[in-house]
Amino acid sequence: MKEIGIGLIGTGFMGKAHAIAYRTALSAFPDIPAPRLVAVADVNTEAARKAAHQYGFESATSDWKALIANPAIQVVSITTPNSMHKEMALAAIAAGKHVHCEKPLSPTLADSLDMVKAAEARGVCTQVGFNYIKNPLLKLARQMVEAGELGEITGFRGIHAEDYMHDPQSPWTWRIDPSGGPGVIADLGSHIIGMARFLLGEIAEVSADVRTVIKQRPVARGASEMKPVEVDDVARILVQFGRGCGGTIEANWIQTGRKMQLGFELTGEKGSLVFTQERLNELLYYKAGGEARHMGFTRIESGPQHEPYGGFCVAGGHQLGFNDLKTIEMAEFLGGIAKGKSTGPDFREAYEIQKVVEAAIASSQQRNWIKV
Ligand SMILES: NC(=O)c1ccc[n+]([C@@H]2O[C@H](COP(=O)([O-])OP(=O)(O)OC[C@H]3O[C@@H](n4cnc5c(N)ncnc54)[C@H](O)[C@@H]3O)[C@@H](O)[C@H]2O)c1
Repeated sequence: MKEIGIGLIGTGFMGKAHAIAYRTALSAFPDIPAPRLVAVADVNTEAARKAAHQYGFESATSDWKALIANPAIQVVSITTPNSMHKEMALAAIAAGKHVHCEKPLSPTLADSLDMVKAAEARGVCTQVGFNYIKNPLLKLARQMVEAGELGEITGFRGIHAEDYMHDPQSPWTWRIDPSGGPGVIADLGSHIIGMARFLLGEIAEVSADVRTVIKQRPVARGASEMKPVEVDDVARILVQFGRGCGGTIEANWIQTGRKMQLGFELTGEKGSLVFTQERLNELLYYKAGGEARHMGFTRIESGPQHEPYGGFCVAGGHQLGFNDLKTIEMAEFLGGIAKGKSTGPDFREAYEIQKVVEAAIASSQQRNWIKV
């Protein structure tokens, strides 16, 4: 497969990130099929037209169904609000297209399962936008856990906190419309739950407190009319991993001052790792048992020794950014399609993440531990 036709639905924050990633992927990963930017769709015709011009798509449309029907397109990228993912993904799968869908996969677990079943029955490759785990240093962290370099793992403290909803005057948007899902636990929680699973495997049990803190918001920017908020702002989850260790996970979109506090402390009997997306080119490593006067965390800096950093830059310490992680994600997806196998996280993994989300919500409602 030399070339692969791409159709992008949605031209907002993530639509742009997908477009940049598809445009860059071949430069960093020469062995993948060349992405051909066939068409972009947005309900806003002008936005679609502008995106086509800006990102180099051959055509623009306001009709996502026409995009899916286009025979030159083999891959459909869905970057619309959550409540639209299912309908668009099922239509793309029915047309035999490979699908990249943004996270959270869908508003409910039942919807996610329908999407998994449809994709697996049709045999198409799928991917979900858990871009942060594409960081070469997170791959290193996982390798270190798997190789036993940290010894028996004894604990995990994970968090994804941002502040884009901290202002009570932040108006109603699709993010707080319950038809799009439960709130921050799915919006940000899915990233840190996915990261925890990537590093340590399945989460077996949860006990959670999930809360709406800001109880009403303006119906539109600057409006005096208020609307009650039904989705959550903060989720604090005690977790028990299948491998035996415990931990905590927090998701929070009202953490005033935090723009991207996605991170973890992972502790084992022989060592610990500390990571935050705020400094995504660094992984702190503590190795127990060394000479007392040298004890402390070592700062591992990302470089070409951490695959696939070298695809972007031959020199260490020059640093990758958010869009590079998205490029790695897309390149792995396209490379997987050429080999006939999704590299993940695919729809099934997103469904497993959603299971943790729904178990945490049930636990919070029942004030109980719940098996995932
Ligand atoms: N992976 C990540 O790190 C990350 C970050 C932000 C958002 N997201 C996810 O990406 C998705 C989109 O979020 P966003 O921040 O880009 O939203 P956004 O509001 O910036 O963009 C949504 C786009 O969808 C378009 N749209 C709406 N209805 C449409 C329709 N019927 N047909 C075609 N286009 C339509 C809108 O016009 C807009 O361009 C969400 O699922 C969100 O959770 C993921």
